[in-house]
Amino acid sequence: MRVPRLSATAVVSLTAFAATGVIPGDARKGAQVFQEQKCVTCHSVDGTGGKSAPDLSKKSGRGYTPADMAALMWNHAPAMWTAMEQAGIEKPKLTAEQSADLFAYFYAARYFDRPGDAARGRRAFISKGCAQCHNVGSTAPEGGKPVMTWKSVSDPIELAREMWNHAPQMRQAMADRKVSPPTLTADEMNDIVVYLQNLPQTRNLQPEFSPASPETGETLFQVKGCAECHRGAHSLDKKTSLRTGADYAAAMWNHSHNMIQLQPELRPEEMRRLVGYIWALQFANTGGNAARGHKVFEAKGCGNCHGKGAAPSLDAMAGRANPYTAVSALWNHGPNMLKQMQAQKIRWPRFKDTQMADLLAYLNAGK
Ligand code: HEC
Ligand code: HEC
Ligand code: HEC
Ligand code: HEC
Repeated sequence: MRVPRLSATAVVSLTAFAATGVIPGDARKGAQVFQEQKCVTCHSVDGTGGKSAPDLSKKSGRGYTPADMAALMWNHAPAMWTAMEQAGIEKPKLTAEQSADLFAYFYAARYFDRPGDAARGRRAFISKGCAQCHNVGSTAPEGGKPVMTWKSVSDPIELAREMWNHAPQMRQAMADRKVSPPTLTADEMNDIVVYLQNLPQTRNLQPEFSPASPETGETLFQVKGCAECHRGAHSLDKKTSLRTGADYAAAMWNHSHNMIQLQPELRPEEMRRLVGYIWALQFANTGGNAARGHKVFEAKGCGNCHGKGAAPSLDAMAGRANPYTAVSALWNHGPNMLKQMQAQKIRWPRFKDTQMADLLAYLNAGK
């Protein structure tokens, strides 16, 4: 692949995100929302909190997509509201921003990640040569920082940034030792992350994830030359599969194979912007099919009220239907919607497979 040479003309301002309503979330604020909105009364966080509902912060490795997550909340909502009524808890309202913060929090807590295996990760850490320079608790003679001081263990953005920035240096050091530089598959990286996060020294780190706004990230994606390669068939919005923190980190590491010239280092703020953009792509495009979504809309009974004057028109969702708005609409309007559905003997909808992604694509397209 050609090494990009930057020119001012390459930097065209795209506004693809202006209309999608995809906003950056912040895991720390998400942790607060989780407390303030009383989710913690029933769900636990890091083992503390209620035990009457599934532990949402557990490093669960479920491999959900954002649309799956939105579907899950819709499916469980009536049971959840009943539990809230019984416990005398007022049903929370969530803005789209708070919903974005919750998603960031779940992401940082690995809720979206594929299951990994710490023992396999430990073996990869050794076989890929990482352990030659990195000890867990002390600085290695080779100068690698001890793992327990890595900010990147709890912050997927920092992990991707470190893998990108240190790749040339680590490769040089490995070449000096006549060790061939390893590539990492996303699964190997995932196992390594699971291993690193479950060490006694790192287990209680507060998870972090605070991507910056997708608009500024999209600009940077061009300024840094990423868009020179990632366009057409290589465009990142062609892929709708979720990119987890480990996926990013492995991709960033493997890039040094494709870069002939020394790759420019990325500052923390820059990586936050790039990740903000790439993270938002999978919210803006959940890979759903609008025609199938129309069928879901009818089959689940949405059309009984919406578009018939019995409920607000959903036209306003056009261009801004995404997992964030789906979740905030659920919490803000759901209880009222449920009452009306019970009155009209319509069953509360449950979504499986790609139904939520399809429905969002349909609502997004507008009628
Ligand atoms: C009064 C108790 C209660 C509160 C408060 C509560 N939930 Fe729940 N939640 C439940 C129960 C019970 C379930 C399981 C319902 C079921 O099995 O159908 C659940 C399920 C879920 C699930 C699906 C979990 C899974 O993996 O299957 C998500 C996601 C969720 N809740 C998010 C939240 C969020 C976010 C909040 C705060 C805004 C919240 N819940 C507040 C009781 C509660
Ligand atoms: C030849 C020695 C060497 C090898 C092999 C090596 N590293 Fe490093 N690594 C370093 C050094 C030196 C630094 C610190 C650079 C600095 O201080 O800026 C570092 C930094 C890092 C950081 C940043 C830590 C932070 O501060 O958050 C991560 C993550 C990392 N390495 C991961 C790995 C992984 C994963 C592997 C195996 C694929 C690996 N390293 C292999 C030498 C090495
Ligand atoms: C010299 C060409 C080139 C440049 C410049 C480049 N990439 Fe890549 N990138 C690739 C190739 C090749 C792959 C692996 C094949 C693929 O998935 O398209 C890749 C893969 C990726 C992936 C993983 C793709 C996936 O499907 O999960 C991400 C994320 C990514 N690049 C981000 C970036 C970012 C951010 C920049 C700018 C800092 C950048 N790339 C610059 C060539 C490039
Ligand atoms: C029984 C009638 C009824 C059915 C069936 C119904 N809704 Fe609603 N919906 C309402 C009402 C009433 C409101 C407004 C509630 C309020 O203002 O609190 C609403 C509000 C909403 C909103 C928020 C709209 C906004 O402007 O923010 C969304 C999104 C929504 N519904 C989606 C759906 C979807 C998707 C379905 C099918 C799975 C569905 N609704 C099925 C009655 C219904």
